[in-house]
Amino acid sequence: MKKFLLVTLFTILSIAFLAACGTSDDNATGSEEGKDEKKVLTMGTSADFPPFETIDAATGEYVGFDIDLANAIADKLGYELKIENMDFGGLISALQSERLDFIISGMSATEERKKNVDFSNEYHKSGEMFVTLKDSDIKAFEDLDGKTIGVQLGTIQEEGAKKIKEETLKNIEFSALNKAPELIQELKAGRIDAVYLDKTVAVGFIEELDLAGFDDPTEASPGMAIAFAKGDALVDEFNKVLEEMKENGELEKLQKQWIEE
Ligand code: ARG
Repeated sequence: MKKFLLVTLFTILSIAFLAACGTSDDNATGSEEGKDEKKVLTMGTSADFPPFETIDAATGEYVGFDIDLANAIADKLGYELKIENMDFGGLISALQSERLDFIISGMSATEERKKNVDFSNEYHKSGEMFVTLKDSDIKAFEDLDGKTIGVQLGTIQEEGAKKIKEETLKNIEFSALNKAPELIQELKAGRIDAVYLDKTVAVGFIEELDLAGFDDPTEASPGMAIAFAKGDALVDEFNKVLEEMKENGELEKLQKQWIEE
């Protein structure tokens, strides 16, 4: 009797296991060919980061430099694109668990991340900035000591702020939140004193919301790139198109369209 139960249980588990394999293979990025329908690629992004990715308030659509770039590449390679919006800090684990095929999210291609993902060639380079209110007494890096800095969870700025606290400005505090616009709201509400952001994004908020800011004098960060699972053949496919777009001026055109000099 016991044996019978065990065999039954084993059978049920095997079927469940096979079924799970079946569904997760449906939009695999492997190299089966032949089908007429376009293969779907799921990209992950944290759509809180203008001009790279945001949700257009009027239309509810994803818009931005990264969105246009991803669409252009997918289109040229004959893939259909599906976008998954999530917190920046969750993107890499979603990629590793195969929920995503790639990430494009203003993500800097750091050595640390390269342990877990493969990056495409870089498509944009941005410095970093500290954003403050216009009438703030924080005018330069040293003035940040003793103040509270806002950073987005999982970003190089979160890492950077920790390092600054360890190495230079021992009295800074920081507050880490999930979405970039929340940081700006906290700043406007006076609950934090500065927001640490990629420069390209900071400049946009400063202009749009009449804020102030200054460049980060600490070490330079790497450029932004598209992230894939380790060993994924898509890296080469994407790089080929990316390089073509660099050569024929398409990338520069997109850049001009979204990013002010
Ligand atoms: N460039 C920074 C990083 O890689 C911040 C990126 C944040 N991106 C976003 N879509 N919120 O850590």
